[in-house]
Amino acid sequence: MTDLLTLEPASRTLADVATPVGGPITLGGRQLASRYFLAPLAGYTHLSFRRVIRSLGGVGLCTTDLVQASHLVSGTRWARELVQTHPDDNPLTVQIYGGQVKHMVAAARWLEDHGYQAIDINMGCPMAKMTGSGGGARLMCDGDGACSLVGQVVNAVKLPVSVKMRLGWDRNRLTAPLLAEEFEQLGVVAITIHGRTRQQGFGGEVCLDGIRAVVEAVKKIPVVGNGDVRTADDALRMRQVTGCAAVAIGRGALLDPWIFRRIALAERGERAAADFVPTRDEQIAFLRLHFQLLVEQHGEYMSCRNFRKFAAWYGARLGIPEDLENRLRQFESVAEFDEIANAIHERHGERVEPLPTALIKVPNGPNEYW
Ligand SMILES: Cc1cc2nc3c(=O)[nH]c(=O)nc-3n(C[C@H](O)[C@H](O)[C@H](O)COP(=O)(O)O)c2cc1C
Repeated sequence: MTDLLTLEPASRTLADVATPVGGPITLGGRQLASRYFLAPLAGYTHLSFRRVIRSLGGVGLCTTDLVQASHLVSGTRWARELVQTHPDDNPLTVQIYGGQVKHMVAAARWLEDHGYQAIDINMGCPMAKMTGSGGGARLMCDGDGACSLVGQVVNAVKLPVSVKMRLGWDRNRLTAPLLAEEFEQLGVVAITIHGRTRQQGFGGEVCLDGIRAVVEAVKKIPVVGNGDVRTADDALRMRQVTGCAAVAIGRGALLDPWIFRRIALAERGERAAADFVPTRDEQIAFLRLHFQLLVEQHGEYMSCRNFRKFAAWYGARLGIPEDLENRLRQFESVAEFDEIANAIHERHGERVEPLPTALIKVPNGPNEYW
């Protein structure tokens, strides 16, 4: 198989390429207003984050954090919380994972019976607990097993089924193009492809040529490119270089929640508008709304703990002075959050960083600046 990873990442700048055609896209019969989607980030892309990010505009589709199929069916509290939704949280796809066909089929039927709109099968997660049980990226090493699982899930429900995967297990097993071709024949409605192998984890750069190979492998279904999109230009470049029909953005949306709105502006050719900076009031309102929605769903204790990990992501972009970012990592109550948000409002802009970065945890890997 071609060693795509030795190819240089695309180095063309946006000035060299035409802006790809944007606008709505149809995916498995669903008409989506934008072709820029929120990628699932376990622990982050829960209901409150999806609602607040949608409120800023420009998001075509959100997917839930990955949910273990067997837990969804047996009804564990955690799994059921992960699929909680709201009328604002639309259009939505639920992502399931698991190595056993019977669990995946049962979970797909459960989702259909409970009124969900679409199912995504996770075939990209590099984490050991998942790959050890045969789910996640491990499925990419077993073509027959992966096809059997996908085919049985597709046949079990009327809902559209998509698959999210990586380029392959490692550079010697770049199975994504072949699998994508087979999945299309089995009736999968879209493929999301993160342009890294499982072995790469989250290291190195995303390989746009690898994504393009998947685009070229399928006949009709949309391919959603994914990986390392931090700006509107990155998103447009990914579409231009790979030919993918849509782009999924994960960490870039944590680092810049306005990224979808910027892309919409850039697509309309409003280049200057793509650099727009939300006002102080908009930034603080975003922060407050996210926390408020979290509290509505999970109550005070859990919400304070959950929100703390967003501090690193939001800090620089929302102009949060470092000592207040530090307090956001430790706060204990709604009252304390209000106090910190008021202080951020007063001292907004004290912190000046040209390019926001965040110290983050990625699954199965070291903390990395991203
Ligand atoms: C903290 C974290 C959690 C993730 N959780 C999921 C998940 O639940 N399901 C999934 O398919 N991918 C998951 N991913 C992978 C992302 O969806 C995405 O493929 C990857 O981060 C590359 O895209 P990005 O550079 O836009 O973040 C996760 C990634 C991170 C960093």
